[in-house]
Amino acid sequence: MEKTFVFVKPDGVQRGLVGEIMARLERRGLRLVASKFMAVSQELAGQHYAIHQGKPFYEGLLEYVTSAPVMAMVWEGPNAVAAVRQTMGATKPTEAAPGSVRHDFGLEIGRNITHASDSVENAQKEIEMWFTAEEIIDWNRDIDTWVFE
Ligand code: RTP
Ligand code: MG
Repeated sequence: MEKTFVFVKPDGVQRGLVGEIMARLERRGLRLVASKFMAVSQELAGQHYAIHQGKPFYEGLLEYVTSAPVMAMVWEGPNAVAAVRQTMGATKPTEAAPGSVRHDFGLEIGRNITHASDSVENAQKEIEMWFTAEEIIDWNRDIDTWVFE
Protein backbone atom coordinates (compact mmCIF):
# COMPACT_ATOMS: atom_id res chain seq x y z
CA MET A 1 0.00 0.00 0.00
CA GLU A 2 1.31 3.47 -0.84
CA LYS A 3 2.62 5.45 2.11
CA THR A 4 3.21 9.16 2.55
CA PHE A 5 4.91 11.30 5.16
CA VAL A 6 3.16 14.26 6.78
CA PHE A 7 4.05 16.63 9.55
CA VAL A 8 1.99 19.32 11.17
CA LYS A 9 4.39 22.27 11.27
CA PRO A 10 4.99 24.39 14.40
CA ASP A 11 2.27 26.90 13.46
CA GLY A 12 -0.28 24.09 13.14
CA VAL A 13 0.75 22.71 16.53
CA GLN A 14 0.71 26.15 18.20
CA ARG A 15 -2.72 26.87 16.73
CA GLY A 16 -4.17 23.60 17.97
CA LEU A 17 -4.78 22.14 14.51
CA VAL A 18 -3.19 18.71 15.02
CA GLY A 19 -6.50 17.00 15.76
CA GLU A 20 -8.28 18.79 12.92
CA ILE A 21 -5.65 17.72 10.38
CA MET A 22 -5.51 14.13 11.60
CA ALA A 23 -9.32 13.98 11.59
CA ARG A 24 -9.43 15.12 7.96
CA LEU A 25 -6.98 12.42 6.90
CA GLU A 26 -8.82 9.75 8.90
CA ARG A 27 -12.17 10.85 7.53
CA ARG A 28 -10.82 10.67 4.01
CA GLY A 29 -10.12 6.99 4.61
CA LEU A 30 -6.34 7.02 4.91
CA ARG A 31 -4.86 4.64 7.47
CA LEU A 32 -2.48 5.97 10.12
CA VAL A 33 0.60 3.76 10.45
CA ALA A 34 2.95 5.94 12.52
CA SER A 35 2.99 9.19 14.47
CA LYS A 36 5.16 11.02 16.94
CA PHE A 37 5.10 14.43 18.54
CA MET A 38 8.65 15.72 18.48
CA ALA A 39 11.10 18.60 18.44
CA VAL A 40 12.92 18.89 15.11
CA SER A 41 16.69 19.28 15.28
CA GLN A 42 18.55 21.68 12.96
CA GLU A 43 20.17 18.62 11.45
CA LEU A 44 16.88 16.88 10.62
CA ALA A 45 15.35 20.10 9.29
CA GLY A 46 18.40 20.64 7.07
CA GLN A 47 18.26 17.07 5.81
CA HIS A 48 14.51 17.22 5.16
CA TYR A 49 14.69 20.50 3.26
CA ALA A 50 18.12 19.91 1.65
CA ILE A 51 16.59 20.45 -1.79
CA HIS A 52 15.83 24.08 -0.87
CA GLN A 53 19.35 24.88 0.36
CA GLY A 54 20.58 28.19 -1.07
CA LYS A 55 17.09 29.50 -1.85
CA PRO A 56 16.16 32.87 -0.32
CA PHE A 57 13.56 31.33 1.99
CA TYR A 58 15.81 28.46 3.22
CA GLU A 59 17.10 30.01 6.48
CA GLY A 60 13.62 31.24 7.44
CA LEU A 61 12.17 27.83 6.62
CA LEU A 62 14.63 26.08 8.97
CA GLU A 63 13.92 28.61 11.70
CA TYR A 64 10.17 28.07 11.17
CA VAL A 65 10.14 24.26 11.32
CA THR A 66 12.42 24.13 14.37
CA SER A 67 10.59 26.88 16.30
CA ALA A 68 8.16 24.56 18.17
CA PRO A 69 7.30 20.84 18.16
CA VAL A 70 5.75 19.13 15.17
CA MET A 71 3.46 16.13 14.79
CA ALA A 72 5.10 13.71 12.35
CA MET A 73 2.99 10.97 10.77
CA VAL A 74 2.89 8.28 8.12
CA TRP A 75 -0.41 7.59 6.38
CA GLU A 76 -1.20 4.91 3.87
CA GLY A 77 -3.82 4.19 1.25
CA PRO A 78 -4.29 3.95 -2.51
CA ASN A 79 -2.63 7.03 -4.08
CA ALA A 80 -1.80 8.27 -0.59
CA VAL A 81 0.79 10.80 -1.83
CA ALA A 82 -1.59 12.56 -4.22
CA ALA A 83 -4.56 12.28 -1.87
CA VAL A 84 -2.73 13.88 1.04
CA ARG A 85 -1.22 16.66 -1.12
CA GLN A 86 -4.77 17.43 -2.26
CA THR A 87 -6.13 17.46 1.29
CA MET A 88 -3.32 19.87 2.30
CA GLY A 89 -3.71 22.15 -0.75
CA ALA A 90 -1.23 24.16 -2.81
CA THR A 91 1.94 25.45 -1.12
CA LYS A 92 0.67 29.05 -1.24
CA PRO A 93 -2.51 29.24 0.86
CA THR A 94 -4.06 31.86 -1.44
CA GLU A 95 -3.74 29.37 -4.30
CA ALA A 96 -4.94 26.35 -2.29
CA ALA A 97 -8.33 24.91 -3.20
CA PRO A 98 -11.23 25.86 -0.94
CA GLY A 99 -11.77 23.05 1.53
CA SER A 100 -8.08 22.21 1.75
CA VAL A 101 -6.16 22.64 5.01
CA ARG A 102 -3.94 25.43 3.67
CA HIS A 103 -6.95 27.28 2.27
CA ASP A 104 -9.10 26.84 5.32
CA PHE A 105 -6.46 27.74 7.90
CA GLY A 106 -3.67 29.61 6.12
CA LEU A 107 -2.73 32.92 4.55
CA GLU A 108 1.05 32.91 4.06
CA ILE A 109 3.41 30.51 2.29
CA GLY A 110 5.83 30.69 5.22
CA ARG A 111 3.08 29.65 7.66
CA ASN A 112 1.37 26.96 5.63
CA ILE A 113 0.68 24.57 8.50
CA THR A 114 1.69 21.19 7.08
CA HIS A 115 4.19 19.25 5.05
CA ALA A 116 3.30 16.31 2.82
CA SER A 117 5.61 14.28 0.58
CA ASP A 118 5.45 15.26 -3.09
CA SER A 119 6.22 11.87 -4.71
CA VAL A 120 6.28 8.19 -3.80
CA GLU A 121 10.08 8.23 -4.01
CA ASN A 122 10.41 11.22 -1.67
CA ALA A 123 7.82 9.74 0.67
CA GLN A 124 9.96 6.65 1.08
CA LYS A 125 13.09 8.75 1.73
CA GLU A 126 11.30 11.00 4.21
CA ILE A 127 9.72 8.07 6.11
CA GLU A 128 13.19 6.55 6.54
CA MET A 129 14.59 9.94 7.59
CA TRP A 130 11.93 10.54 10.28
CA PHE A 131 10.97 7.09 11.53
CA THR A 132 12.64 3.80 12.39
CA ALA A 133 11.26 0.62 10.79
CA GLU A 134 9.86 -0.46 14.19
CA GLU A 135 7.82 2.71 14.47
CA ILE A 136 5.80 1.89 11.33
CA ILE A 137 2.83 -0.26 12.31
CA ASP A 138 1.58 -2.75 9.77
CA TRP A 139 -2.08 -3.35 10.62
CA ASN A 140 -5.43 -4.14 9.09
CA ARG A 141 -8.32 -1.88 9.87
CA ASP A 142 -11.75 -3.47 10.15
CA ILE A 143 -13.30 -0.97 7.73
CA ASP A 144 -10.56 -1.35 5.10
CA THR A 145 -12.72 -3.29 2.63
CA TRP A 146 -15.24 -0.44 2.72
CA VAL A 147 -12.59 2.15 1.83
CA PHE A 148 -10.00 0.28 -0.26
CA GLU A 149 -11.43 -1.41 -3.38
P1 RTP B 1 6.28 21.18 1.99
O1 RTP B 1 7.51 20.58 1.36
O2 RTP B 1 6.56 21.95 3.26
O3 RTP B 1 5.18 20.18 2.12
O4 RTP B 1 5.68 22.24 1.00
P2 RTP B 1 5.51 22.12 -0.55
O5 RTP B 1 6.02 20.81 -1.06
O6 RTP B 1 4.11 22.47 -0.84
O7 RTP B 1 6.46 23.30 -1.04
P3 RTP B 1 8.04 23.30 -1.26
O8 RTP B 1 8.28 23.93 -2.57
O9 RTP B 1 8.62 21.97 -0.98
O10 RTP B 1 8.52 24.33 -0.15
C1 RTP B 1 8.79 23.92 1.17
C2 RTP B 1 8.28 24.95 2.13
O11 RTP B 1 9.11 26.09 2.08
C3 RTP B 1 8.33 27.25 2.33
N1 RTP B 1 8.46 28.13 1.19
N2 RTP B 1 8.55 29.42 1.29
N3 RTP B 1 8.77 32.18 0.73
C4 RTP B 1 8.75 31.32 -0.27
O12 RTP B 1 8.81 31.66 -1.43
C5 RTP B 1 8.63 29.90 0.05
N4 RTP B 1 8.62 28.93 -0.82
C6 RTP B 1 8.51 27.79 -0.09
C7 RTP B 1 6.91 26.80 2.53
O13 RTP B 1 6.66 26.65 3.94
C8 RTP B 1 6.88 25.46 1.85
O14 RTP B 1 5.86 24.64 2.38
MG1 MG C 1 7.89 20.06 -0.57
